[in-house]
Amino acid sequence: MDIAKLIDSGEVCMSPPMCGEPRKILEALAVRLRGESLKGLKHHQLLTFSDHDFLKPEMADSIRHVSWFTSPYSRKAVHEGRADYMPSYYKNVPALWREVLDLDVLYALVSPMDDHGYFSFGLSCSETLAVKNKAKKIFPEVNSNMPRIHGPEFHTYLQGRRLCESDYPLAEMAAPREKDLDKIIGGFVAEEIPNGSTIQLGIGGIPNAVGKALMHKKDLGIHSEMFTESFVDLIEAGAVNNRLKNINKEKSVATFAGGSKRLYDFLHDNPSIDFRPVDYVNDPAVIAMHDNMMSINSCVEVDLLGQVCSESIGPLHFSGTGGQVDFVRGANNSKNGRSFITMYSSAKGGSLSKIKPILTHGSVVTTSKNDVDSIVTEYGIANLKGKTAGQRAKALIGLAHPDFRDELRFEAKKMNLII
Ligand code: COA
Repeated sequence: MDIAKLIDSGEVCMSPPMCGEPRKILEALAVRLRGESLKGLKHHQLLTFSDHDFLKPEMADSIRHVSWFTSPYSRKAVHEGRADYMPSYYKNVPALWREVLDLDVLYALVSPMDDHGYFSFGLSCSETLAVKNKAKKIFPEVNSNMPRIHGPEFHTYLQGRRLCESDYPLAEMAAPREKDLDKIIGGFVAEEIPNGSTIQLGIGGIPNAVGKALMHKKDLGIHSEMFTESFVDLIEAGAVNNRLKNINKEKSVATFAGGSKRLYDFLHDNPSIDFRPVDYVNDPAVIAMHDNMMSINSCVEVDLLGQVCSESIGPLHFSGTGGQVDFVRGANNSKNGRSFITMYSSAKGGSLSKIKPILTHGSVVTTSKNDVDSIVTEYGIANLKGKTAGQRAKALIGLAHPDFRDELRFEAKKMNLII
């Protein structure tokens, strides 16, 4: 394909996350990388959504992936040192592109042109505007299945660019798991959420279960980095109407979406949905403008002070910071806002506690002890705000699986957190 021939050795390239990745262009680039002496390329992407050639060991000399939020597809390459990862708050990603990093090539999947000659970056809008203004070369791949998403900044005039067309179906995310434990935790959180709240739901099975448990609520609003599958259910059930939001009334606001075809069809050309840049959606000051802002995310483990690790398993990088801290901080500053970090009390078939005396060696602190609000497991909710270290330890031990509580008490005593 001609576009792949316009990319040169040593260039820094970038693709939008998830459904924004232009698979036809990337496949053509892989063919060129295998057959020609193209070397030293970089491919930046927030979240890869398929099993790309650039992640394969034999491609390591020609192209190196930089992951901004590691996915099941890129994790192995990161763990084996064949790909790198970029630490950042999600809110700051556009500024890093604008102010710090160089960029040669943006390749992106876009929606078909509308009657006025405009394309939309569709499901993956988060940092795309900043990147579009920075890239020296822009190669859109127009896919007939990419929804056109409304929003002030993403109907972008791209005519005159070298583009290509594709019509493959967009990648879909596996349906979120719905285990009994998720439902129990979802129920606890839903009880804390008053009618009229504005909701952010994160990635993972528990936030999805919270969405399902909110079905009977009234006058909810959506202001969330990710537009999740359960938001469609909440809107269709009439639980969400965005009527009481202080800003962006009547609109559900998000910055990207990934899910099923049903979700993509719902979002297409839907005037009640606004996708905006992530430095707006995830700005804690913007989040805090919503009264009763409720943020629901998940984590890997928590220590007895309330330090939350959500992105690594020990020293092994697993996902990314994403917008967890942006939303925790925004909710902290919202009138009556709350943030809930949810998890099962144990992992690996009950063999290890996710509440630890201290974080596992090498674990990364995502949400700090000073920002954290409430931790939730299947044993209840601990609101850590305004609690001393000792009070936190006691409250968190009460959320641990009973099999681990004695051991946690013993360790907490050794650390002089409790006597
Ligand atoms: N120790 C060892 N392994 C652990 C563990 C722990 N403390 N906690 C979880 N795991 C394992 C699980 O057993 C599971 O392994 P498996 O796939 O082999 O069963 C795996 O890690 C994933 O855990 P799970 O709890 O199922 O993940 P999830 O899909 O619910 O996602 C996060 C949870 C924390 C990884 C995810 O929410 C995340 O990346 N968050 C950070 C960013 C964020 O919150 N952004 C905001 C909104 S998008």
